[in-house]
Amino acid sequence: MLLQSELQIEPRYPLFGGWKATFVIVYGLPLQDFLFESSDDKRYLNFTFGCPLIGMVVDKLTIKVVLPEGSTDPSPVVPFPVEHHLEAKYSSLDVVGRTVVVLEKKNFVPMHNSHFQVYYSFKPIFMLAESLMLASAFFMLFVACVAYIHIDLSVRK
Ligand SMILES: *[C@@H]1O[C@H](CO)[C@@H](O)[C@H](O)[C@H]1NC(C)=O
Repeated sequence: MLLQSELQIEPRYPLFGGWKATFVIVYGLPLQDFLFESSDDKRYLNFTFGCPLIGMVVDKLTIKVVLPEGSTDPSPVVPFPVEHHLEAKYSSLDVVGRTVVVLEKKNFVPMHNSHFQVYYSFKPIFMLAESLMLASAFFMLFVACVAYIHIDLSVRK
């Protein structure tokens, strides 16, 4: 089933001389439509390169792909030259941080259906890391409580 939503934005005044307003549009997409497994046991994201607003010419387009914690060897594949570099991002419960692949393109003109891919390796064991960390933290807490209850700290004559 293909679900589609369309967002229409209309300026209240004519836009001469640029649009000096900042706004954020956030939306979620089902990952199974964009994340695949390649033949060499890697995973890859296949996504449209461009701005989700139709017919926009973009002075500087930045696309950031945040990979799951524990992934290695990120390699972007883009059908035209772009600048790219890696960043690290830490969110709650992260130990080693997440790799962020940053793609930058200046003067981007929308093209017919250009897709890019980001390939990376990911060991499924890393999916357990956060839950194991929480489980061991609670275990330590309970061990500490049990120890506290059983230790007799009273002073005797
Ligand atoms: C990426 O997705 C597009 C559109 O669905 C498809 O045409 C293209 O073959 C895909 N590329 C890869 C490498 O899977």
